[in-house]
Parts: sequence; structure tokens; C-alpha cells
Amino acid sequence: MSTVGSIPSVTANGAKIPLVGLGTWDLRGRTCARIVEAALRLGYRHIDTAEMYDNEREVGEGLHASGVKRGDVFVTTKVWPSHFTPRELERAAHESLARLRVRQVDLLLLHWPNPQIPLRDTIGALCKVKRDGLTRHIGVSNFTVKLVAEAVQLATEPLVCNQVECHPFLDQSKVIAACRKHGMAVVAYSPIARGSARNDKVLARIGAAHDKTAAQVCLRFLVQQDIVVIPRTSKEQRLSENAAIFDFTLSAAEMAEIAGLARRDGRLIDWSYSGNTQWD
Ligand SMILES: NC(=O)c1ccc[n+]([C@@H]2O[C@H](COP(=O)([O-])OP(=O)(O)OC[C@H]3O[C@@H](n4cnc5c(N)ncnc54)[C@H](OP(=O)(O)O)[C@@H]3O)[C@@H](O)[C@H]2O)c1
Repeated sequence: MSTVGSIPSVTANGAKIPLVGLGTWDLRGRTCARIVEAALRLGYRHIDTAEMYDNEREVGEGLHASGVKRGDVFVTTKVWPSHFTPRELERAAHESLARLRVRQVDLLLLHWPNPQIPLRDTIGALCKVKRDGLTRHIGVSNFTVKLVAEAVQLATEPLVCNQVECHPFLDQSKVIAACRKHGMAVVAYSPIARGSARNDKVLARIGAAHDKTAAQVCLRFLVQQDIVVIPRTSKEQRLSENAAIFDFTLSAAEMAEIAGLARRDGRLIDWSYSGNTQWD
């Protein structure tokens, strides 16, 4: 398997985030540790996990086994909304660090909004764990346009990203514009639409013209807009494929055609329990 070469980064409110990271939701046990180690050996420098994925131990195992220097890897984890009171959030952050076996993560996110707990309290606690050195940067995930504005207003430390579902089949233009307005990066989860991009005829046709797969065109479409992508795979051979997206450029016409696939209701992930029904 070939190495992936150097992956460019975006800078957002002081954070330098590699444009491609490895998503780890649903990767468990040996598979998780093995894929994380393989990704880092190939040249990935960004790993995305969460306390809810129940795999931080294995992510840590892969990280340490890879031999890559800790300072060279951008590690993100997330606090689950049931731990959003200040005391619980601090405890959850310490527990994540212990499972990952690191002194500090690079980015700590609020995983989903929790309408049951005042955002002011949770953002205050998130800023405190950053000041205390448990994380280098902080951010949010699954925050709507309105919630992003509220969070930015309440935060005393910079929020560097909003991690949201983002792929060519979902119109996220409003939440993307809101992040940009506040200098925040957009981190795209489910960036290949949980694998379904591989079957899309438009992406496949455009890919054929560039000698690339539909999945690569899908990811390229996002990074070409400076959107960070965190595709997940359990297969080592797909790690290189998902990162080999910096040696071709989509034309303006191709970008417009792909943007035309977006639908307002193209969401794949059910988030009704978070109390929100629209991103904007
Ligand atoms: N913040 C949040 O609330 C949230 C929510 C969802 C996800 N996430 C994060 O985002 C990451 C990515 O999202 P996701 O896991 O939902 O979906 P995804 O990355 O869009 O898709 C993963 C699926 O695509 C397949 N796949 C991977 N590379 C492929 C390729 N080159 N060609 C064809 N199929 C390919 C994988 O199968 P194989 O394993 O067989 O390759 C897997 O079934 C997660 O792992 C997690 O870290 C965050």
C-alpha cells in the first residue's frame, strides 16, 4: 500500500486541522486499533473519536503502536450530552484522556446539543477544560446556525469548528456560512454518505474523467471548499484511496454539477432526540 503523502491543513481560530482525518465510529476492538495504526503509518495525522464510540482505548492503542510522535497527530474526541453539567464534563474529559493514554487532546467537542442543560454552563465548562490544558482546542458538533451564534457569544475561548453531517447529497450551505462567519472550520462527518457515494452515477462519471473513484470525487468536492473530511473505513486498502484526493482538481462546472445533487432533506443521521429539526 502506498503512503498518502503530506495532507494539507486548514487554519481556524488558531487551530491547524489536517483536511483528512480517520473517522472511527463503529470501529471496535482489534479492527479499530489496527486501522488507526495503519492510517498513521500511511500518513494520516488526524483521528476522530468520541466517548460514545466506546473505542477510545483502542484508538489510543493504535496511536501509541504507530510510532508517530504524539505532537504530530491531531486527536479529536467528544463529550456526550448526558455529561454536559460542568462537573460531569470535566470528569468525562479526564476519563477520555485516561482511555486514550494522552495528557491532552487536540480538539474536544460537545457531541450534540442538549436542550436540558443551559448552554452557558456547558460552554463555560468546555472553556475551563481548555484553560486547564486538557485540550488544545474546543468546538461543537451538530450545532444549528442559531446554536453556533449562541455558543460563540458565550465562549471565552475560541471555538474552532462545528462538526456536522456534510456530503454532496445534503444542502448544508447555511450552517457552513454560519461557521465561516465566525472563523470556524466545518468538519464533515459521514462525508461519503455512509458509503453510498460510491454508487452515485454523477460522481462515478466525473471520477472516470480524472481516473478517480466516486468516493474520491465526493471527498475532493468537500476539501476543495476547505471542508475537513473524516471518512471511516474498516479496510486498510481504502485508507490510501480516501486520502489520495490532493493530486487532482475539480473544474467549476464539475463542482456545480456535484453541488446540484444536494437536497434539503438529504440527512442520513437521525438527530430528532437533540430537540432540533432543522440545521438553520
Ligand atoms: N459528530 C457526530 O455526531 C458524528 C456522527 C456520525 C459520524 N461521525 C464521525 O464521522 C466519521 C465518518 O462518518 P460515518 O462513519 O458515518 O460515514 P462515512 O465515513 O461517510 O462512511 C463510512 C462507510 O463508507 C464505507 N467506505 C469507506 N471508504 C470507502 C470508499 N473509498 N469506497 C466505498 N465505501 C467506502 C465504509 O465501509 P468499509 O468499512 O467497508 O470501508 C463505511 O461503511 C465517523 O466514523 C465518526 O468519526 C460523527
